[in-house]
Formats: sequence, C-alpha cells, structure tokens
Amino acid sequence: MAAENIYDLVVIGSGPGGYTAAVKASGMGMTVACVEKASRPGGACLNVGCIPSKALLDSSELYAMTKNGLSAHGILVTGATLDLPTMMTRKEQVVEALTKQLGKLLEASRVNLLQGTARVMDAHRVEVVGGDGGVHIIGAKFILLATGSVPVTVPGMEFDEDRIVTSTGALKFFEVPRTLGIIGGGYIGLELGSVWQRLGAKVTVIEMLPQIAASLDGQISRSLKRILDKQGMTFRLKTTVTHADVSEGAVKLTLESNGKSDMMEFDRVLVAVGRKPLTTGLGLEAAGVEMDPKTGHIRVDSSFQTSVSSIYAVGDVVPGSMLAHKASAEGIAAVEAMSGLFSEVNYDAMPSVIYTWPEVASVGLTEEQVKAREIPYIAGTCPFSGNGRAQCMGETGGLVKILSHARTDRILGIHMIGPRVSEMIAEAVLAMEMGASSEDIARTIHSHPSFSEVLMDAAKK
Ligand code: NAI
Repeated sequence: MAAENIYDLVVIGSGPGGYTAAVKASGMGMTVACVEKASRPGGACLNVGCIPSKALLDSSELYAMTKNGLSAHGILVTGATLDLPTMMTRKEQVVEALTKQLGKLLEASRVNLLQGTARVMDAHRVEVVGGDGGVHIIGAKFILLATGSVPVTVPGMEFDEDRIVTSTGALKFFEVPRTLGIIGGGYIGLELGSVWQRLGAKVTVIEMLPQIAASLDGQISRSLKRILDKQGMTFRLKTTVTHADVSEGAVKLTLESNGKSDMMEFDRVLVAVGRKPLTTGLGLEAAGVEMDPKTGHIRVDSSFQTSVSSIYAVGDVVPGSMLAHKASAEGIAAVEAMSGLFSEVNYDAMPSVIYTWPEVASVGLTEEQVKAREIPYIAGTCPFSGNGRAQCMGETGGLVKILSHARTDRILGIHMIGPRVSEMIAEAVLAMEMGASSEDIARTIHSHPSFSEVLMDAAKK
C-alpha cells in the first residue's frame, strides 16, 4: 500500500526522547511527524512520571514542613490539615499546563502530531491506527523509535491499580493509605514512599538487595537510608515477596529473607522493581530490527542506528539508564547522525537525581566503581553541617563527595546528598563535561553563603 504522506522523519512516541528529537529535526529543516497513542503528548515522564511525582513531592514537602518543620523557625501553625483532592487537582493542572505547552511547541515547530498507534511496516513505512479506528500509512526517510518503557511485574502479583499498583496508581490514591508496602527500594519506591509517608502513611520498603538505591555510591546510599530511617520509613532489606493475597480491602504479602518467611499486611502495595523497554506490537521483528532477547532492548550503534539503516531508536528502549534527560540527549544525537553530522552522548557526564528530602544527586563513577577499575583516586568529602546557608535553612544533613584521579586530579565522579542538590549537580556535570580537575572547582569562586560552597570545600580536601 502506498503512503499517504511522506516525511523526512517519523518519530514514534512523544516522550522526552521523541519530542526533543522531533523539534530538533524540524529545526534542522526536516519534515517531521510524531505519532502518539495517548491523548496527550509528553510520554510517561510528563503524564505519569517525573512531573506529577515532583508536583506531589513538592506539595507533600510543604505539608510535612508545615506540620513539623516550621516551629523551629518560630512559626506556629495550628490545625494544618490535608486537602488531598486539591493536592491531586493541582498535580493534574501542572501536568495539563505542561502537556498543553508541549503541544504548542510541537505546533510552532511544525511537527505534525498524529494521535494513534503506530506500527513499523518496513524500513520506510509506518501504519497509524487512529483513535477513530481509521488506518493511515505514512512514509518516512527515517523512523525514530522512542516508545519508552513499562513497569516490570513481580511473579504472582497482578497489578489491579487499586490495591496493587504501579507508580501510575500510586500517583492518584484518593485517600492516604494507613499502611503502604513498597516492593523495590529504587528511584520510584523512595520518591513515592516519601510522598505518602509525609502525608501520613506508614511506609515499609521491601528490597531484595542489602542496600537501597544500589546504583548510588555506597556511602551516599547508607547516608540516605539513615536519614529516611529517622523520617520513619521502615526497610526490609535482603527480602523478597513470594506471594500476595488481596482480600477484604488489604494485601497480605508473604516475605522471604534469610531462608525464613513471614507475612505483612498493607492497605495498598506499590510495585516498583524496575521498568522494561516497550516494543510490543511495533512490528520490529518483521521489519528486521534486531533486539536483545534477554533484556528486550533494541540494538543500536553509537549513533542510535538499528540493524535497519533508516530506523533509529533512543531512550528507554535502548540500553542505559532510564532517565528523561538521557532520552532527550540521545534524541538530539540520533537526529544529528541522520543528518550526517558528528554526534555523541557523553554517558560519563550523565546526572541522576532522587527527589527525596534531602535530595540525592550524582554524576560519574562511584567509589565502588573506581576501586573495581583499580583507578588511583582521592576522595574529598564535605558535610552540609558547617555550611552557613544550610544552617540558616535548618537543613544540615548530608554531604558532597568528589572522587578525582590521584595523579591528574581529573574528576571521576561527584556524589551529593543534601538540600536542593538536584540543582547543585549541574555544576558538577559541567565540570565533568569540560574535563575539569578537582582544583578547578576549588579555585572557582562560589557565592557566599550558598549550598554550592560545600562542593567547593569538598574539592579543597
Ligand atoms: P529501580 O531500578 O530504580 O529500582 C528497583 C529496585 O527494586 C532495585 O533496588 C531492585 O533491587 C529492587 N527489586 C527488584 N526486584 C525485586 C523484588 N522481586 N523484590 C524486592 N526488590 C526488588 O526501578 P524503579 O524504582 O522501578 O524505577 C524505574 C526507572 O524509572 C528507573 O530506571 C529510574 O531510572 C527511573 N526513574 C527515575 C527517577 C528520577 O530520575 N528521579 C524517578 C523515578 C523513576
């Protein structure tokens, strides 16, 4: 069947990988269509991920501060209560505003946003089944796959998005659960656990590994656990769930740790044990696009080209961390590669942030990775406790740690836990991108008083 319209680029998926690539390609003079099956653009990040979770994290932080943190500043508030429906409406409004803004950006960038479900027919044709059931065939010089990921399930546990939920369900509970069990002590578990704990739930995190957020530098992970312990979050480490039983408005979990089993009962359970690439129904096998049968990732080369030369893939469907900014960086690099330009993504300077309070942010190698690679290194650490700005704010927990090469002083990794380190990490990423030494940061003038002085002081150690 012949294509109705032919574009230079057809992007499948309008998340941070897809929409960034679409706008970039249009800016470079390509004709672009972006196919999205959901009613709003933005993908998981804008609709059910990064953005709504941060809206709830910000709101719940203010609630917890009003309840427990303001009296130390001499502000006494009596009768502060939670209006959960308003908090949820506000979160929806934030998502609505940002997805509308994205729609306008795509329109202004002359990207044709097509609502429907796409399937790759061959190297240059995409079938789109619209919401109305109409089928359209569109032609493309290049196709970019940016379909993202879906939550991993735990055997024996069915998501009903009521009692046993994914992160999507945990973003819209209509009441605060009395008890919330969270399976998986990673990014989602710790962020959404923080939200519901601040709003009054008793939160228990069940993690199969001996530490939470295992990808973090060990010292930072231990520090985070100590702080969350103090906030009242309970952890069951080295523990797995072997069975779940939903009845009478509760979920009974059978847990196993150290060869012993026991039971715990929760109002609701969030399963956050990772995500997997979403490639089903895309027609990739028939089109000849190679995938890794073990992980489900689409195989790409360093310019994000798949085994079919006109088809590229970026974001959660290709290997690497499942982060919005990683997907966006790859989307831009893929478009540049299609245009015959040199492009690359510097994965050594890829930041990651966990938006707990205090926040956690890191870039580069952890101390464990540096040791495993037998790189001679120096570690400089500085706590927030001595920092003037942190004392004024009453947020003195946490530290900054800089790992640099013992001979060249080049920075290998920077790890932070503390107030607003999600913003501070940008300086660390830039330093690594520029190949800076620890001395470069130590000699850079930082405004006083500011949190960023802790980074400068860690660099002086
Ligand atoms: P994750 O990979 O961060 O954490 C999953 C955790 O579950 C791990 O600690 C793992 O050891 C544990 N686990 C796995 N199977 C288990 C089992 N059967 N029983 C108990 N524990 C088990 O994955 P998560 O939190 O689901 O997040 C998914 C993705 O979303 C991540 O790759 C993350 O990068 C991304 N994300 C990023 C955020 C950010 O940048 N702030 C926020 C939320 C998610």
